[in-house]
Amino acid sequence: MRSWLCLLLFAICSGTDIKLKEMSGRIVSPGFPDSYPNEIKRNWNITVPEGYIIKIYFTYFDIELSYLCEYDYVKISSGNTEIATFCGRESTDTEEAPGTKIFYSIDNTLTLTFRSDYSNEKKVTGFEAFYAAKDINECDKYIEGESICDHHCHNYLGGFYCSCRVGFSLHKDKMTCTVQGI
Ligand SMILES: *[C@@H]1O[C@H](CO)[C@@H](O)[C@H](O)[C@H]1NC(C)=O
Repeated sequence: MRSWLCLLLFAICSGTDIKLKEMSGRIVSPGFPDSYPNEIKRNWNITVPEGYIIKIYFTYFDIELSYLCEYDYVKISSGNTEIATFCGRESTDTEEAPGTKIFYSIDNTLTLTFRSDYSNEKKVTGFEAFYAAKDINECDKYIEGESICDHHCHNYLGGFYCSCRVGFSLHKDKMTCTVQGI
């Protein structure tokens, strides 16, 4: 019955997906800094340009505590991977709250999901989070112990390029250096 109703009332039951494309921003629970409403499910889908990852942290967090955060929660996911699920105010043995930790996406996308169930026993006032795109330093990355570029690696905001020592030239793959004239 409920799912049938939800098909009809899609916008209300499923909530909304909010797309964010800015390099930085602020995300707050509905109604913040007042209590958040019941029965909310909302995604904030953040996408930044390739060559960046997304860093996110919370400056305020107060979500109804439930065992394993099964009722109300805030979830961070990226690239089909769940990074963390939070509820409460402070971490307990079985539930995690974000505290002052900083979280990073796996790729250039990050989804923050907020869900509230049908009832809140106490007044809980939600969350405030900030995100920012962070440049990936490709020159610090190693593939099987080898750096990305044969000779010199140059990182810049949103990308990188390779160059070769004198007497060598850059191969078509833009990473390998070959002796000139071969
Ligand atoms: C937002 O992200 C969620 C979780 O990854 C996904 O299920 C949903 O389809 C995304 N929405 C949009 C509009 O991209």
